[in-house]
Amino acid sequence: MRVTPLTGRFGADVTDIDLSVPLAPDDLVSLRAAFLEHSVLAIRDQDLSIEAFEDFALQLGEFGDTPYITPVDGHPNVLRLLRESDEAGPLFGSGWHSDWSFQTQPPSATLLFGIDIPPAGGDTAFTQQEAAYDALSDGMKALLSDLHGVHSARRSYGPKGTFGQQDDRRSMEIVGDETALETRTHPLVRTHPETGRKSLFINEVYTVGIAGLHESEATPILNFLFNHCRRIDFTCRVRWQKGTLTIWDNRCVQHYAIDDYFGYRREMMRITLAGDTPA
Ligand code: SIN
Repeated sequence: MRVTPLTGRFGADVTDIDLSVPLAPDDLVSLRAAFLEHSVLAIRDQDLSIEAFEDFALQLGEFGDTPYITPVDGHPNVLRLLRESDEAGPLFGSGWHSDWSFQTQPPSATLLFGIDIPPAGGDTAFTQQEAAYDALSDGMKALLSDLHGVHSARRSYGPKGTFGQQDDRRSMEIVGDETALETRTHPLVRTHPETGRKSLFINEVYTVGIAGLHESEATPILNFLFNHCRRIDFTCRVRWQKGTLTIWDNRCVQHYAIDDYFGYRREMMRITLAGDTPA
């Protein structure tokens, strides 16, 4: 297995590994170590059936819960992210977020596999939230240390959310409902359960407030953090190819699906892995 960093900070391309067969124990250990070190791995040149994709995911962890989006028939843990070439309307994933951060136990990792990729565009951007935390002043770190963000799916999947209403022109079947109005709180600063590193755990799609603060107090803090988190110095982007499988660590990165490929089709398969309660 060959690991080539994508930037000076995080993200790596991985080659010379075949995920269509179970990994040897040593290779699995090396892959896990690379994942924890780089936070985002773009594993190139994979030829995977949907079953092989599931089998590989299960070598890394258990499946997470997948709300609001109808999964692939017969594969309840696999989503098909599809955008047809002539499709308009909001693009799934196009906003900085950490997957399903509104859940009590948000997914630890997401696996996305490229099936049909535009000739250019459709990259996924990432931003590293340990770097974002480290760059804060001691005063700001102290201010945030006891605060909890309020997370909700309402802006995306609530009745008035981006995907709250059925839209027959959309390729993906996304069905929002009233459960999206529920809220959960998570520490604004979480500690990675495997590396022990601290990171900011907020995102502009799902973090809607700060527990115990008035909206007028929380909004300026959140807006500062949203802007800070996506500073270009903390980012990398994955350029997809057919057969690229990217794994990212939702505990310490946010991501953004870039909407710049109108006129081309993009199809991916996605699995999330179960995570723990942020602490
Ligand atoms: C997602 O947010 O999971 C989708 C990312 C992408 O399509 O690039």
